[in-house]
Amino acid sequence: MRELTFEDVTVRFGSRRLGTVAVDGVNLVVPAGQVVGLVGESGSGKSTLARAAVGLAPLTAGRILLDGRPVQRDKLQMIFQDPYSALDPRMSIGDSIAEPMPRKMPGRRAEVARLLELVGLAADRAGARPDELSGGQRQRVALARALAGRPEVIVADEITSALDVSIQGAVLNVVKDLQRRMRLTMLFISHNLAVVRYVSDIVAVMRQGRIVEYGPVEQVLTDPRHEYTRELLEAVPRPGVPLGN
Ligand SMILES: Nc1ncnc2c1ncn2[C@@H]1O[C@H](COP(=O)(O)OP(=O)(O)O)[C@@H](O)[C@H]1O
Ligand SMILES: [Mg+2]
Repeated sequence: MRELTFEDVTVRFGSRRLGTVAVDGVNLVVPAGQVVGLVGESGSGKSTLARAAVGLAPLTAGRILLDGRPVQRDKLQMIFQDPYSALDPRMSIGDSIAEPMPRKMPGRRAEVARLLELVGLAADRAGARPDELSGGQRQRVALARALAGRPEVIVADEITSALDVSIQGAVLNVVKDLQRRMRLTMLFISHNLAVVRYVSDIVAVMRQGRIVEYGPVEQVLTDPRHEYTRELLEAVPRPGVPLGN
């Protein structure tokens, strides 16, 4: 089991009187081996919730649990919109991917090669620097690096939002394929409902710091309960139309 649970999680920035409540009493379960897609407009608190999960935003109240226990930082890996946040431009991508591996682990180079191939890159690219790659390739490297730490949960925040629409689909396919094969538990965040729909088993809709709707992807999309979800759906292009950004 690798179930991620948010229990009454609140994150406030600034003072009680003048601050912003970015996350407001969120209860959310990401079941083991499933993808929960978290969708909502800009400023709704998605990134703050994600950052709280990996310890980058302090909790004002509540708890975040992995299988019922306080999360250990190394069990979760986060992937960001900008892959440069995880990749040191001066390091080869192979070294970046190897970094989270245990120092004395035998066969690190072979493991780097395996991970590169897993995300659809040739193993002989290990010596390349991040700026020699395309945006989509860099995001694949960020994914390989996240997997190198053998996480139980992946938190992916807008990982295709900065990519050209033409390559978003390919990166999403890699994510979806790896998640299924490795049975990863994943919190997948996007402001784009079409993107969320494509990779998720469950959809959670966030608005003004709260989860306003949660359910199996098909149910939420065919029979949304909340007016805000309907508005998001109306903004989504029909199937067959390329994913927008
Ligand atoms: N470090 C911070 N300090 C102060 N306010 C913040 C900080 N990070 C986020 N916020 C505020 O919290 C709210 C939610 O932001 P965010 O979690 O980034 O939303 P989203 O990812 O859904 O766009 C916004 O009002 C934002 O301005
Ligand atoms: Mg965000």
